[in-house]
Amino acid sequence: MSAPINDFVKDYIRRDCARFHMPGHKGVKLHGMEEADITEIKGADYLFDAVGIIGESEEQTARAFGAKRTLYSTEGSSLCIKAMLGIIARCRNDKSVKMLCAAPRNVHKAFINACILLDIEVRWIYPDAESCSICSSGITPSDIERTLSECERKPDCVYITSPDYPGNMCDIKGISTVCRREGVPLLCDNAHGAYLRFLEQSLHPITLGADMCCDSAHKTLPCYTGGAYLHISPSAPEKFSRCAKDVMSLFASTSPSYLILQSLDLCSDYICGNYPKELADTVKRTALCKKRLEECGWTLCGDEPCKITVCANTIGYEGGELAERLRAFGIEPEYSDFKYIVLMTSPFNREEDYLRLESAARNIPQPRIRVCPEELPVPRARVRMGIRQAAFSDNETVSVDNALGRICASTATCCQPSVPVVVSGEEITADVIKILKRYSICQINVL
Ligand SMILES: Cc1ncc(COP(=O)(O)O)c(C=O)c1O
Repeated sequence: MSAPINDFVKDYIRRDCARFHMPGHKGVKLHGMEEADITEIKGADYLFDAVGIIGESEEQTARAFGAKRTLYSTEGSSLCIKAMLGIIARCRNDKSVKMLCAAPRNVHKAFINACILLDIEVRWIYPDAESCSICSSGITPSDIERTLSECERKPDCVYITSPDYPGNMCDIKGISTVCRREGVPLLCDNAHGAYLRFLEQSLHPITLGADMCCDSAHKTLPCYTGGAYLHISPSAPEKFSRCAKDVMSLFASTSPSYLILQSLDLCSDYICGNYPKELADTVKRTALCKKRLEECGWTLCGDEPCKITVCANTIGYEGGELAERLRAFGIEPEYSDFKYIVLMTSPFNREEDYLRLESAARNIPQPRIRVCPEELPVPRARVRMGIRQAAFSDNETVSVDNALGRICASTATCCQPSVPVVVSGEEITADVIKILKRYSICQINVL
């Protein structure tokens, strides 16, 4: 295996050139990483016209993920999500009508932003069973099948988020079978699941039949924050791969971080090496940790092998309170809200980390009185205006208490703050207000 971007930068540092190019730090250490922070000098390739070292590294990563093509992003999955939807916008057949995308409600904010930029209409998919979680979709292949059959016209794509923040995973194989039968491309926000490819049995969306997916390498792999992939499946239409770079560049900076590119490059070298074995050990250790937490009376949920999601309420805490208790033991979780805390593991966690968590679980007192916040069903959207039109309308900020019946201008989000409670163009109902307050959102922009 190789790391061509790193090799190039190391060689450049060794040559000790007089740097008459950007960035302005000229490789002189202030923060510590300046030496390796270069720009598109001769031989460094171009991210959006990658025919040299970047292209080579991307090809190696594509092979590791079983993708037809993998594009690097130094601006996270947020950029890849816009690019995936942009590719559909470019490649769809009937451009005389607005692009239509079917998606469950637990989309990341980047999806809403793409809808604003590309003027996409969304057909929201709700699970058959009533859902009380904003962050999880709870949708099944039959929910997708039903929605597609009820749509007045065929959507240009189906878009799902799996895994979600609390670690629930959709039946991607079943959903992709439905999408293929209906002739609708399946896009998956796999920001939390890059590692799923390297489990003993791959659970990665590309393996399971998605046409495109994004992975935030930085969330689960050893990569600097911002490093992400857009993968295109070998079974996706050829034209997706052909226009992908061009479309991604529409939304991206022309100055990609070479530090992040080097990190993606080294990460590629790492996943092609001993990573699957290290990951298998991590999955085992995480499962043992989950078992030990349950033996202490903690209730866990979610399906992800490298995520520990604790239902804090069942041991008498709000998620935020339990997170504070953990901090007192020197443990920092990924996320907490009124209900859950989420902890993420990787091969880079030390045995000591697990032991600390297990010791905290044994020692944190469990109040007898259980905290049971009222379950609030996810309200169905009352769409009063297109997302783009509302997002670009004149608006004012009002207290949530005074927002009843108004039209939302700027999408209000929760869940780290990324999942929409109410989307631009939707009516703010009493049920929406209850949820906004539950997530301590006090003000909202309305038309
Ligand atoms: C489900 C989901 N999708 C997309 C994103 C955006 O990813 P990134 O931070 O890599 O841009 C996030 C970020 O938290 C996320 O949780």
